[in-house]
Amino acid sequence: MIGAKTAALFLTHRTPHLLIVRLRHYFKNMLCTDLHPPAAVRGMTRLSREAFNKTIKTPHLIVPKDVNLNNVCRVIKKFLLKMERYKPVVSEEYKITLHPLAVQRWEDLAEVELDKLGIDSKALVWQEIQLGYENWKYDEIFKAVLPEDKEALSSFSKIGHIVHLNLKDHLLAYRELIGAVLLDKIPGCRTVVNKSVTIDNTYRNFQMELLCGEPDYQVDVKENGCAFKFDFSKVYWNPRLSTEHEKVVKMLNKNDILFDLYAGVGPFTVPAARKGCTVFSNDLNPDSYQALVENCTLNKVSKNVKCYNKDAIDFIQQEMKHALLETCANESFKGHIHITMNLPAMAVEHLPYFPALLKGEKIVNLQQKPLVHVYCFAKGVDDKKLIAQKLVEQWLGTDVDDKLKEIAFVRNVAPNKDMMRVSFYLTEDLLYGHSDAGRKRHLDTEDKPAEESKRPCQISDVLEDGKESK
Ligand SMILES: C[S@@+](CC[C@H](N)C(=O)[O-])C[C@H]1O[C@@H](n2cnc3c(N)ncnc32)[C@H](O)[C@@H]1O
Repeated sequence: MIGAKTAALFLTHRTPHLLIVRLRHYFKNMLCTDLHPPAAVRGMTRLSREAFNKTIKTPHLIVPKDVNLNNVCRVIKKFLLKMERYKPVVSEEYKITLHPLAVQRWEDLAEVELDKLGIDSKALVWQEIQLGYENWKYDEIFKAVLPEDKEALSSFSKIGHIVHLNLKDHLLAYRELIGAVLLDKIPGCRTVVNKSVTIDNTYRNFQMELLCGEPDYQVDVKENGCAFKFDFSKVYWNPRLSTEHEKVVKMLNKNDILFDLYAGVGPFTVPAARKGCTVFSNDLNPDSYQALVENCTLNKVSKNVKCYNKDAIDFIQQEMKHALLETCANESFKGHIHITMNLPAMAVEHLPYFPALLKGEKIVNLQQKPLVHVYCFAKGVDDKKLIAQKLVEQWLGTDVDDKLKEIAFVRNVAPNKDMMRVSFYLTEDLLYGHSDAGRKRHLDTEDKPAEESKRPCQISDVLEDGKESK
């Protein structure tokens, strides 16, 4: 998880070199109180842009008109005052603003040997400059306005034109200001929302409060080379999962089959179909299903994808079972079968539906064992890989040591809570119910009717996930 400051830097600087330069200036300016916003803005809850106006005295170099200004600029680069929307070189006036921390006396410029260019100490003068709201980035503004003694604005996500925050309680009083500043300062931002407390957590789409801008939640985003359109207020989308989506899609090859059990709007399904996989894609949320179908069309992969709007249990017992049997019977199928289960708060509870799924069916040889990628939250201080494995084993009702491909860390969501992926193979014994798998079911679900496992996620599944922002 990156902080707001770093998030801002990453949002605007994609190359490491530019990021380092920006960081250098950020810290240099932060060390110089003259370059901070006025102290009076501390505690401001409604944005007053004028309150940021201030006048400061800074060193300037007044370059004689007969000296080549470009040559001076070249040697003096690292002494310039660099601030947002501030031009340190005014060519018409042959005037250069220098950084007040770097240049306090003529001797500070000794290393650039200005005398060799025909400039002497008389050229260094102190003059007033006006600074205002436009000269600070949003992170500098928040540092000046928000309470000093409390946790700063921790992070946010940008989804298309929407900036999405998850404000801590102590920042709620500042939400209007935070929204207005982000709308002003984040390129391409038209809408700023905050995750509100009321959660519709079955579909993992959070209620959100509009902080600033247009109430337009229909977004266009790109991920892993594919285009996605959806209504962010109605479906699940998390830009922090793009690397994980990419990792799993990389494991797939043309002609493989993917069962995407909780597909959302298609971040596994669409790129997999683009690779030439056949995808059986399912989501319970009718809005996700709708967007999934449209995203398949948008990316011209509809011919490779069958979309369903079902509970995952029904999908497993009907479509998946049927397609598995068909695939097993098809001797010409040479691909691999993958099953993605990204609903970390409860996907493990659906694992008991795999053992004995094909029980009583004509036994055919599984040329390739289906590979399940199930996500879960590993909570606690112990080894998270072990916690994740235990969770899977409890719900699957059997050890997975001999079935494991890998257990991978996906991301940290809260203190002592990590999202993990357990990738393991479904063996023939398991699917045909030959092993004791399923008998050692998790205590809580033992002997419960299937309907009971179709529970919606609990509030606690999501609420304690403090850092989660969808
Ligand atoms: C965490 S999101 C994952 C979406 C997408 N696969 C991704 O990686 O971004 C989980 C999805 O599961 C869906 N869902 C929740 N309960 C479900 C259930 N019982 N059966 C099928 N889908 C369900 C939600 O609507 C949501 O889109």
